[in-house]
Amino acid sequence: TEIEVSADDVEIGAHGHFMAKEIAEQPETVARMLRGRLDTRFDTARLDGLNLSPRELRAFRRVKILGCGSAYYVGELGALMIEELARIPAHAEAASEFRYRNPIIEPDTLYVAVSQSGETADTAFAVREIKRKGGQVVGLVNVVGSTIARECEGGIYLHAGPEIAVASTKALTHMGVGFALLALLLGRVRDLSVADGQRIIAGLERLPADIEAVLADEERIAGLATELSSADSLFFIGRVRGYPVAREGAQKFKEISYRHAEAYQTSELKHGPLALIEESRPTVAVIPDDELTDRNLAAAEQVLARGGRVVAISHPGVDLGPLDDRRVDVPRNEVELDPILLMIPMQLLAYHAAVALGLDIDKPRNLAKSVTVE
Ligand code: AGP
Repeated sequence: TEIEVSADDVEIGAHGHFMAKEIAEQPETVARMLRGRLDTRFDTARLDGLNLSPRELRAFRRVKILGCGSAYYVGELGALMIEELARIPAHAEAASEFRYRNPIIEPDTLYVAVSQSGETADTAFAVREIKRKGGQVVGLVNVVGSTIARECEGGIYLHAGPEIAVASTKALTHMGVGFALLALLLGRVRDLSVADGQRIIAGLERLPADIEAVLADEERIAGLATELSSADSLFFIGRVRGYPVAREGAQKFKEISYRHAEAYQTSELKHGPLALIEESRPTVAVIPDDELTDRNLAAAEQVLARGGRVVAISHPGVDLGPLDDRRVDVPRNEVELDPILLMIPMQLLAYHAAVALGLDIDKPRNLAKSVTVE
């Protein structure tokens, strides 16, 4: 049985579009998701639904994350969080590909299926294939009682509430938070220190207010989005933690503005796509305040030097030089959690570009909310 909440069951409120409503409610829904899940006594996450003991959690030597589309991109962020905080090799793969390549299922790998709807056929099939081969799979799922939630052996419910707009926003933020909690838990049964556990918990507690601060800058972001909406083709660039953010940014922009948007690793730009840079093809560059800021800046300046326009998604205090007039700043949180916040302006850029173009925001052409067929 498919459990679905239809648009008729949810109030759109004063927002005009479900997507706008779902973007706006994130501070509140993230605060709700975190309730009861932060264990300040042992500086870890409380995730009883995983049904895994500390001993079992410790025994995993690898993590494999499976999801489709945007869930896959957030899975890539999750893999980085797990590698950084728990120091176990972690990798995300599109569930739609995994299922067709006779994957090797290992007993000491923790498999994680990530899905808003819990009904995506490719992801559900991957879960079944893992289980059939004796693997252990948990879910990061939003819809309670959905197919994937039921078929996984345990999991973390995302508690984002119903998401109606086809273009996913708040559920992706919640996936990011879910992965941070999982990474914290896996880290704290390994070598993550008490101090680092406290640091991540404090960062998670700041997230709702930080999201609020990004949303407060909506008018400025809308102005930049309107400017971007006139381009037929755009690049979204980022590296390491910023790359999945760029992938998701391009995906969101494509889905609802129908503009061609391509994500690239900033470091790979010079190996080919730089040839395409010109004034009519703007670039959205993720330039966080981290160990790669200078390199990211240098690459963005190369884009400018070739006549390209750049919108920079960055942090306050970063000296962006010639990129300064088209910057969007998100609050600095903890470096491992920053990508969650860097995704928020991407939602607003896509939304306001589609508004400027007068498109059907909640129901983009050719797309369904959940792809329950192959
Ligand atoms: C997101 O904006 C997309 N509509 C799409 O990529 C989606 O994330 C994907 O189909 C997976 O859906 P799920 O999370 O319900 O499994």
